[in-house]
Amino acid sequence: MNYGLPYMGSKNKIAEWVVGHFPEKKHFYDLFAGGCAVTHCAMLKSKFKTFTINDISKMTEFFTDAISGKYADERRWISREDFSRLKDNDEYVRICWSFGNKGENYLYSKEIEPWKKALHHACVYGDFSLMEEFGIRTDGTKIDIKKNAAEYKEKYIRWYLKNVLKTSAEYERLRSNLEAKIKDNSEKLRAYLLEGLRKAGKTAAEVNRFLGTNGMAGHYFGRSQWEFPTREVYIKLQSLLYLPENYDEIYGLQSLYESLQSLQRLERLQSLESLQRLERLQSLQSLESLQSLQKFRGDYRNVKIQPDSLIYCDIPYKNTAEYSDGGFDHESFYDWAEKQREPVIISEYAMPEERFERIDFIKKRSLLFSGSNLFHEEGLFVPKTQIEKGIFTVKKKEWKQLELL
Ligand SMILES: C[S@@+](CC[C@H](N)C(=O)[O-])C[C@H]1O[C@@H](n2cnc3c(N)ncnc32)[C@H](O)[C@@H]1O
Repeated sequence: MNYGLPYMGSKNKIAEWVVGHFPEKKHFYDLFAGGCAVTHCAMLKSKFKTFTINDISKMTEFFTDAISGKYADERRWISREDFSRLKDNDEYVRICWSFGNKGENYLYSKEIEPWKKALHHACVYGDFSLMEEFGIRTDGTKIDIKKNAAEYKEKYIRWYLKNVLKTSAEYERLRSNLEAKIKDNSEKLRAYLLEGLRKAGKTAAEVNRFLGTNGMAGHYFGRSQWEFPTREVYIKLQSLLYLPENYDEIYGLQSLYESLQSLQRLERLQSLESLQRLERLQSLQSLESLQSLQKFRGDYRNVKIQPDSLIYCDIPYKNTAEYSDGGFDHESFYDWAEKQREPVIISEYAMPEERFERIDFIKKRSLLFSGSNLFHEEGLFVPKTQIEKGIFTVKKKEWKQLELL
């Protein structure tokens, strides 16, 4: 089951576990609702009589729009160009068609976009002409695509080489020793740039200063994350370094390099299926009949809490790079939580031990943290003051569970 909308840091995967810890109350408040996974789950379980969602961002609006059927007829294919044009004014495009649902970059890499488009045309519009252009006869079902994955992939790559990369080179020839070819190619280009640097008697640091970029020269001259300068930068560099070839000539080699890299990405494709986006939105429409949902957009402190409520707070995690730009004030949140008269349950990785009790935790693989330890304990916390005052009662069962884990 998918809960809520796709969202970075969504509680989708652990929503049932979170909701399982909620005490019985009449009203439910999800004050940092984001993609609303937890509210969605609690609604489906009919755990409360009324539900209130709040978030400082526009996400909750998207959720309520989705459950009220705004996207019921959404069938559009959104291309990379459509995405850049529409994302600022169209919430559906911004969220559902961006990579990681972060609303920034387009969902698909340029290599996979034509395939996804053909699949969309086949599954959503019943139009198989794009698939036929690839030389593929499919009914667009997951079963068919899975069964013939190897054949379809090969046909698609051949089509891509010919029609997008416009290379006359034979697929078989390109494909053999791909890794070595890419390396060889980048080494040649890099050697050319290094030679240009040496002959001009300059250093990478001087190039950085000249370009006004911080560390970009490292990519042109070093092996790790090697990159060839763009046309604009190359032309600029010609006035500083010894780079006798004009860009278009050198670009022949560079574009071959790019083609080889594209091919490598295509070869690595694991799966050709899936139109999950639409399924996800459709699953939300089943909630339409459930009213009693109120929404707010603003700071959590502005939401008035009624008696007989449970307050759930999935706050921006402390010390997580991804969220650091939000400038969330954790200290004042702690003060606020301690003052509440209705029970507050908080999702966090860590909270000040003297003030908050961790009532349970779950081991989670987290991509938000870098470093070698990918597993983190995501906890559920309650203010100690609430336990002391009897606002929140910790169940014995949960203590046991904690000891066992
Ligand atoms: C960890 S995310 C919540 C994810 C959500 N539980 C889900 O499953 O999709 C934290 C959310 O807090 C919101 N937020 C940040 N500061 C806030 C504030 N002062 N008041 C209300 N919401 C805030 C962010 O916009 C973000 O959506």
